[in-house]
Amino acid sequence: MASAAPDATEAGIEVLGAGGNAVDAAVASALALAVVHPNAGNLGGGGFAVIRSDGVVRTLDFRETAPAAATRDMFMEDLGQSASGGSLVGPLAAGVPGSPAGLYELHRRLGRLPWSRVVAPAVRLARDGFVVNRRLAWKLEGSKDLLSLFPETASVWLPEGEAPLAGTVIRLPVLARTLQAYSDRGPEAITIGEVARAIEAASSRHGGVLTAADLAEYRPVWREPIRFEAFGWEVASMGLPSSGGIILGQTLGLLERVGWADKARFGADRVHLLAEVWRRAYADRFQLGDPATSVAGWRDLLAEAWLDRRAADILIERATPSDEIFAWQPRGQEKDETTHLSVVDADGGAVALTTTLNGNFGCGLLVAEAGFLLNNEMDDFAARPGEPNQFGLIQGEANAVAPGKRMLSSMTPTIAWTKGRVMALGAPGGSRIPTGTAQVFLNVVVDGDELQAAVDRARVHHQWRPDVLWAEDDALSPETRAVLEQRGHTVMIGGGVGLVQVVVRGLDGVVEAVADPRGPGSAAVLRSSAKEKK
Ligand code: GLY
Repeated sequence: MASAAPDATEAGIEVLGAGGNAVDAAVASALALAVVHPNAGNLGGGGFAVIRSDGVVRTLDFRETAPAAATRDMFMEDLGQSASGGSLVGPLAAGVPGSPAGLYELHRRLGRLPWSRVVAPAVRLARDGFVVNRRLAWKLEGSKDLLSLFPETASVWLPEGEAPLAGTVIRLPVLARTLQAYSDRGPEAITIGEVARAIEAASSRHGGVLTAADLAEYRPVWREPIRFEAFGWEVASMGLPSSGGIILGQTLGLLERVGWADKARFGADRVHLLAEVWRRAYADRFQLGDPATSVAGWRDLLAEAWLDRRAADILIERATPSDEIFAWQPRGQEKDETTHLSVVDADGGAVALTTTLNGNFGCGLLVAEAGFLLNNEMDDFAARPGEPNQFGLIQGEANAVAPGKRMLSSMTPTIAWTKGRVMALGAPGGSRIPTGTAQVFLNVVVDGDELQAAVDRARVHHQWRPDVLWAEDDALSPETRAVLEQRGHTVMIGGGVGLVQVVVRGLDGVVEAVADPRGPGSAAVLRSSAKEKK
């Protein structure tokens, strides 16, 4: 199993060791992340899970929704993003949390162990304490401005006004109480009654519109997975309201059409083709939104005819300016903080689960009586259509704010399999999630990399607009960069492209797990009674 924090990986392994299946481990790990990885793990946010068990693939959407009082224009006026009131900071930025009902539903339908056993590691971590690692200390220090805006948050995460140093033991008694109630009574312990009323009061005190009624009405949704074949593997990924699976499917389908696998591994052609494919996939993303309002669906964008047409105008000798690429049209009208965990169990059952508060520490407001932070997922809507969001994404009407609607995501929890091998993978990284996930998949499947090497390798990213090809340090040699610039790409170096957590079960039944070294993650494998850690 691989997750973003050693304590959370340990929670999943503990539950597997107790006879749990991949779903039990995923939920235990996700709840542990809500304690030890507060910048992204959560009860106050949402996410998606792709699950394969007994040969059946399912996906669960527990994405946040816009509160009932949300309006299309609520973020049009520029209230500034440093004060409470915008789509990023403070509870107006918060969607209705989906994690409490979503994680419970995932376990209710597909878990094996009792619910209380799965929640137990998270309760223990919050109640007895955990050690702040260097990465969390650094994140807290870097987010001091946000966390100190709200006294409720500062009193927990900035004791005496300072971020805790690495090595400090933190205990979270209020969160432990909330988790214990969740263990005893399920999601209603959070979505109905005292905690729900406290969430409404905290939101309202700081200018938000989230209500206890929004919480009570929230429902996770089981959705049809996106299914496609690529490079000899069957792939299942997340559909709307995430764009992630669609972008992954377009990426792999277009790369097959343009002969990507046959190009030299370290030359400019492969990077050029990735950029050309992503310009087109992210242009089509403009038409996506909540399934109820999306202009296009995955069957439109992954249709053979559309992929053929998209591939037809990709040139090897020159970049297509993004301004010349228009999004899919109906026929006749011609930060970055999310967290991903992957787990595969001894029976080949697999879960890829991505969960998020959106930005680091979400909207910054911690509900004192509940002990957890609220998300700032409203920024994933086209909050101000035509203007880029925090990930630089420009989005369309299909993703405008409306009450009860789910905001478009890029999360890409994915399970792929072929001839007895199973791979679960995904990443955080905002708009860079699908591109980071795709590159690790390609490194394993096309180039046959060892799993660690596949994750380590430097990555690139393009998202249509802005018309920039980003490259991690060391992704491009000076010669490759020069060729790409000659072909018309604007290359920028810097920033990571996702933190990919991946687990593979091989033909021999041996499981390998790798956590991305770019982040704080950890991977571990349970081998009969002994466990091996990486
Ligand atoms: N909040 C990042 C995403 O959902 O894509």
